[in-house]
Amino acid sequence: MNARFEPSGALRGELTPPADKSISHRAALLGAMAAEPVRVRNFLDAADTNATLAAVQTLGALVEVRPDELVIRGTGLREAREPSGPIDVGNAGTLMRLLPGWLAAQEGRRFTLDGDDSIRRRPVDRIAEPLGRMGATLEASEGRYPPFTVRGERLRAITYELPVASAQVKSCVLLAGLTADGSTTVTEPELSRDHTERMLAGAGVRVQRTGRAVTVANCDELALEDVAVPGDPSSAAFVIAAGVLVPGSRLLVRGCAANWTRTGFVRIVQRMGGIVLGDLEERPGDGIAPHEPVTDLDVAAGPLVGTEIGADEVPLAIDELPLVALLGCFAEGRTVVRDAAELRLKESDRITAVVDGLRGLGADIEATDDGFAVTGSDGLRGGVLDAHGDHRLAMLGAVAGLASREGVEVVGVEAAAVSYPRFTDDLARLLNR
Ligand code: S3P
Repeated sequence: MNARFEPSGALRGELTPPADKSISHRAALLGAMAAEPVRVRNFLDAADTNATLAAVQTLGALVEVRPDELVIRGTGLREAREPSGPIDVGNAGTLMRLLPGWLAAQEGRRFTLDGDDSIRRRPVDRIAEPLGRMGATLEASEGRYPPFTVRGERLRAITYELPVASAQVKSCVLLAGLTADGSTTVTEPELSRDHTERMLAGAGVRVQRTGRAVTVANCDELALEDVAVPGDPSSAAFVIAAGVLVPGSRLLVRGCAANWTRTGFVRIVQRMGGIVLGDLEERPGDGIAPHEPVTDLDVAAGPLVGTEIGADEVPLAIDELPLVALLGCFAEGRTVVRDAAELRLKESDRITAVVDGLRGLGADIEATDDGFAVTGSDGLRGGVLDAHGDHRLAMLGAVAGLASREGVEVVGVEAAAVSYPRFTDDLARLLNR
């Protein structure tokens, strides 16, 4: 489906972003791993997280949908049921990489995971390696891609140095560590989102962070009772970018997650000169807070300057880097993103897709092996942008259209439903004030 996004007047009003996708996936998974019922408020109702709910039901968890919450009755840590066919992860990379951490502990059972065309291009050797060291086996197509099969075994605790800063791989190893024969430590090259650690701490697990190392102790059971999912800063980022780019805009974004490991984009926008004000969490020291902080954000448009983003900031804004490229088109000077080769392994190759997409709209942008460089000029002309089935590219095209001189036609706008089903309605509402 195609949709046109015309140059717009100012965006005004309030917005509550959809529930956080990362936290929703984890709530469903940990709920399924718990022996007692877990209540989840504000679970994200979108394609990706509904795939996780379906997956945990296939594994024996019961999911009750009440008017204002979900209740998940799990199987316990070691009692996932072997399904009769493959588990369909849809488009959800987070489900595909976290779930095997639990499945690896299901002794004597086998689980096959498969998904859509995009998921079949996303590597799983990054989880096969540590799970193999722990004693499980993961057999993948061409040694690397879905469909793949996990065979559960009795697990050994390991100390693992992540080759890439990936919250998904870190989380997979930590979940497997819950049932291993001791304490499991994962060291990440840079800090990445820490929702798994926080939720495990909230479930009574002994989990500790010292610098870039996270250690989880094994346990018999998760004692998670309640999860309240905050708004998703990665979804809010599209509306924030529109508010920052379209002159005269003034927005209030309500109930957004303020976790420091997720607000890298807000800090980048602030550095570029955009106005985004809120009660953001400070960079945490050692230890783990067992809760997720929440804030409202005030957003206003302003003149932007270019900036540089490197290894330490990349994992903290990984899903928002396409938007940094867009902001760079409107900023004075150059905006450069480095050390972000991981972008090539997302729902699409987000370096090629962003560079080709924005260049087609008139941007002065070039790809590098591990990122891109944009030279800001007088914004964007407009044109056609293909989402390549990638939700974040569909929303990028829409925001580009509002800020452009001639409008943008987004090819495949329906991809937004993977994380933000109400996206175009929310934009329309903020434009009609
Ligand atoms: C996620 C981690 C990131 C991110 C993805 C969600 C998570 O992936 O891009 O959208 O929920 O853990 P990586 O861990 O592969 O960087």
